Amino acid sequence: MAGTVLVTYGTTNGSTARIAETVADVLRKEGLTVETLPARSVAGVTSYDAVVVGGGLYAGRWHKDARRFVRRHRHELAERPVWLFSSGPLDATASERDIPPVPGVRKAVAELDAREHVTFGGCLEEGAKGWVARMILRNGKGGDFRDFTAIETWAAHVADDLTRG
Ligand SMILES: Cc1cc2nc3c(=O)[nH]c(=O)nc-3n(C[C@H](O)[C@H](O)[C@H](O)COP(=O)(O)O)c2cc1C
Repeated sequence: MAGTVLVTYGTTNGSTARIAETVADVLRKEGLTVETLPARSVAGVTSYDAVVVGGGLYAGRWHKDARRFVRRHRHELAERPVWLFSSGPLDATASERDIPPVPGVRKAVAELDAREHVTFGGCLEEGAKGWVARMILRNGKGGDFRDFTAIETWAAHVADDLTRG
């Protein structure tokens, strides 16, 4: 496929942005032209040929920037190949088994006829915003559970799908 892929994300503490950058790097290595942008900064998607949207999970919902992005651009997104990912679990479960999308994301998968959704482990470290985050950290439940091997494998599979048409 010729053209440009948008990799966009909703993040509060930056860990989903790093996942998006990793996905973008793999797509570039596979020869695709890629732009990465925070979901709140995307004015429109008509100039992109495919879109990957990721969001951190907060209280059982996708990050609000990812939700708004999908809502705002749903018609254009539905006309393009779209992949979705979530990042959240602060344990190894996402590396051990498939974690289904939260209900709002499941709806987005259906609405956009997304090619695929995947859940990656999340990350919560010192300096994260909000009292709940601080409480989780105080209780020793934080850490970095992003599995970059799994992220790269998934991105290579997206690239494969895109380049094969
Ligand atoms: C207040 C709060 C609520 C969270 N809720 C969930 C949740 O419902 N499900 C989940 O899997 N992870 C949850 N997490 C973990 C985050 O999804 C994880 O830290 C993620 O990597 C954050 O992404 P970000 O750094 O891009 O904002 C929560 C974290 C915080 C601080």
